[in-house]
Amino acid sequence: MVKEKNYKRYTVTAALPYANGPKHIGHLAGAYIPSDVYARYLRLNKKNVVFVCGSDEHGTAIPNQALKENTTSQAIIDKYHALIRDCLYKLGISFDVYHRTSDPLHHQTSQEFFLTLYNKGLLTEETSEQYFDDEANVFLADRYIVGTCPKCGHTNAYGDQCEKCGSSLSPSELINPKSTLTGKVPILKPTKHWYLPLDQYEGWLTKWILEGHKSDWKVNVYGQCKSWIDAGLQSRAMTRDLDWGIKVPLPDAEGKVLYVWFDAPIGYISATRALFQELEAGNRNYATPQRDFGNVSAEDWKAYWQDEETKLVHFVGKDNIVFHCIIFPVMLHSAEQYIVPQNVPANEFMNLEGDKMSTSRGWSIEMHEYIEDFPDKPDVLRYALLTNLPETKDSEFTWKDYQAKNNNELVAIFGNFVNRAMVLTQKYFEGKVPLQGALTDQDKNVIEALTLFPAKIGASIESYRFREATANLMDLARLGNKYLADTEPWKLAKTDMERVGTILNLSIQIAANLAILSEPFLPFSAEKLRKILALDQFTWKDGGTAEIVASGHQLGAAELLFNKIEDDVIAGQINRLNENKKKMELQNQPVEAAKAEITFDDFSKMDMRIGKVVSAERVEKSKKLLKLQVDTGIDTRTVLSGIAEHYTPEEMIGKQVTILVNLAPRKIMGFESKGMILMAEDKDGALKLIGTSDPVAPGSMIS
Ligand code: MF3
Ligand code: ZN
Repeated sequence: MVKEKNYKRYTVTAALPYANGPKHIGHLAGAYIPSDVYARYLRLNKKNVVFVCGSDEHGTAIPNQALKENTTSQAIIDKYHALIRDCLYKLGISFDVYHRTSDPLHHQTSQEFFLTLYNKGLLTEETSEQYFDDEANVFLADRYIVGTCPKCGHTNAYGDQCEKCGSSLSPSELINPKSTLTGKVPILKPTKHWYLPLDQYEGWLTKWILEGHKSDWKVNVYGQCKSWIDAGLQSRAMTRDLDWGIKVPLPDAEGKVLYVWFDAPIGYISATRALFQELEAGNRNYATPQRDFGNVSAEDWKAYWQDEETKLVHFVGKDNIVFHCIIFPVMLHSAEQYIVPQNVPANEFMNLEGDKMSTSRGWSIEMHEYIEDFPDKPDVLRYALLTNLPETKDSEFTWKDYQAKNNNELVAIFGNFVNRAMVLTQKYFEGKVPLQGALTDQDKNVIEALTLFPAKIGASIESYRFREATANLMDLARLGNKYLADTEPWKLAKTDMERVGTILNLSIQIAANLAILSEPFLPFSAEKLRKILALDQFTWKDGGTAEIVASGHQLGAAELLFNKIEDDVIAGQINRLNENKKKMELQNQPVEAAKAEITFDDFSKMDMRIGKVVSAERVEKSKKLLKLQVDTGIDTRTVLSGIAEHYTPEEMIGKQVTILVNLAPRKIMGFESKGMILMAEDKDGALKLIGTSDPVAPGSMIS
């Protein structure tokens, strides 16, 4: 491997999550956890790094969700922006700034970018036929259209992408396209858009990626890029006919907005701008800087995007590769003053308990659910994901594995070692680090092994092998555990206190190394361990020695770093997963097909009235039935109704109901029931009375 050049600064980005719903642990495994480990590692090495992210708030995914939740697009992004941001911070993802693409600064930055390309004559204007919903009177971009994927046959592929096979699509490729707004088959209508002629950059892309990054980009990423470039690139529309998004900053572009994949990656740049604006002004709207940036000016963002000595790294999931390796780099390159990414270490997908993770199918672990259930265990999730990242191929999360990683590794190895070292030092030396006496060969071997860890873990992180880095970290805890098991200081305590002192001194040095080297992976536990050991701040370079803690140093109070997770907790989670899936299956079920047509005569045979319940009681031996006396205006009569599981008798008394009065009487449980109370039945079987809540006199006819 070529020795990497020494960069002056680093710009680390994590894919901007769509603010159209909660995000699950698959997203964490794809982009957020790896990028966070990388950024923390760089900071610990005193590198000049910015780590940026934010919400992706445009595109048809947002209004589509608004439609589903029966609210506005603005309400959707406000709700999910806050939810996602808070979850990511709670899980320790240490962004220096978490911005959002609805921010005016981002609109400005994107429009400027568009105009830069436009004014250089780099965008082509083309009129083409595109799908149009003539009932909703709108063009159907991207996720407003669904159909069958031409690549894998999935029947619910979007106009821009198939979520099953990950192919990126255009609406015209879909088989049997349908509007998500009306369900109608769309028609074709001409419309004008601005295109990025990717085909003109094939030569540049070939040189930059295929020749330049053959050895340092991940195989899965390089391979995807190669197959696209080899297949020949086509120009792509950078604008859309939509009313949600960033207005195209041209005079003849009424009703047109920037394509979400044009504006979203520019969001990284806007976020960096916002960070430096806020650093200069000293306020903290979006920015939670993770280090002291010193005295900076708002203009300093430029160095992070325009200086050749900056290393730009994009962390994304595999469905984002084309945008970060081809489209955005072409935008950056052709705009000229920008740098392009040095690497895009994209991950594959993480499955869950044998099936694809999916929020809409209820088969997922949402970040906010995890945080609610395990508020004190962000590091356990980080660890379970890190040891199982889909770095080279899809991987799988299971709750059993999560439990095993916690109980058998974090508790039994890491936590157990630290606890034994602490407790023994408290017991024999009152928590004061004892002297390091004469070293045996065994000690020397341990020290030698210790010195290798920072470079070894660092090399894995620098080559984006986070699983391997995490395994190396746990090996350090194993080293400590084995050292204590082999030397058995508790047996020596009666005979050789000096030897006990040396062993515990070295053990505390190993624990201190763990406090330093675990920080990128397990930041909360590292902090706790630092407190337990009463250590100051440190850098990565402080690691790798047996001289971190001076003898005589007073340690803090011992405290457990990790706690065992019991079987019933895990069973509860698996249970909930299955429940969620069932619930979503019900919700996603199509409504029942329409019944056969009837005539007006058929309808008018039914005599429906407003009635009022005068009394109600349960029916003995029946869970479902209530026996009601209803004032129908015509008479007061007995009606048996199957609503006992949804309304109590007390609730029913005085209620206004809709009743079919000319239904032939029926004997039910020994009572004669005359008529039927009308109700709506939910997909999950819940019954609700129907009618008007405005008072209407009993006997009023319904027509
Ligand atoms: N919102 C996109 C997704 O979830 C990712 C956008 S990344 C960015 O797939 F670069 F465009 F910001
Ligand atoms: Zn597909």
